[in-house]
Amino acid sequence: MDESEKPELTLLQISDLHFGPPYREEAGEAVLRLANKSAIDAIIVSGDLTQRAKREQFEAARDFLSRLPSVPQLVIPGNHDVPLYRFFERMLTPHGLYQKIISSELNPVLKVGKAIIAGIDSTSPHTAISNGRIFRRQLETVAELFRNAPADAIRIVVAHHPFVPAPDCLRDKRVQRAVRAMKIFGELNIELVLGGHLHRAYAGESSDFYPAMPRDRSIRIVHCGTTTSRRGRGREAGRNSLNLIEFRKQTLTVSHFLFRDESQSFTVESRHIFQRRQQP
Ligand SMILES: [Fe+2]
Repeated sequence: MDESEKPELTLLQISDLHFGPPYREEAGEAVLRLANKSAIDAIIVSGDLTQRAKREQFEAARDFLSRLPSVPQLVIPGNHDVPLYRFFERMLTPHGLYQKIISSELNPVLKVGKAIIAGIDSTSPHTAISNGRIFRRQLETVAELFRNAPADAIRIVVAHHPFVPAPDCLRDKRVQRAVRAMKIFGELNIELVLGGHLHRAYAGESSDFYPAMPRDRSIRIVHCGTTTSRRGRGREAGRNSLNLIEFRKQTLTVSHFLFRDESQSFTVESRHIFQRRQQP
């Protein structure tokens, strides 16, 4: 193990902020304190910035993001960032407010150090509203990006909706076209897929759910719980969590933090150390 070695890349993953009634300010302030004292290279926000895609909720989310340390951010929308009940808006301009207030780019790409991080907008405002969908053209774009990437790049994909079901509640559906996407991610040598949506954390392997995938192409799957809302589910019901992700030459460490009411801070609950595949 090389845990004493300085990481070559450190990512903070936060998710499912849900600005609006479910937002917990004490958790949000604790995120800012932790982020501002940690050495991180980039911040990943894996969707559901708001509860109901309202202007004031996006503005509150934008103000929160602006208070994070000034490192690159990769932000993608979640299904709650699409107006569920404002039918005409959902049909005509489902991401209008998100693009105006948060980011015009729905499928952002972030290059930081040796890492290439592809964000995929997995929302499907017209169909599959809750469970999301990956569109064929998105997979083509991701494939083109990684086919042209240097062989030693750290390859990461981020989507709000999960490609594997939550292990503690198997009735949660995975995103539509997940099987096809995972096959392509395997061919592209993707090392890590980050997600949210399920409101409880998970760190594991694609081969647990896709046994037909070649073992040497197994992809690490990391989900973040809801970082700042009262909507935690399953074993994170009523809890808030975030992930700190460190890449070293030989290992990938995922530290899962939970918010503690006693200390009003996020502290490590569990740590997962994966051996990285041999780098070329
Ligand atoms: Fe959510």
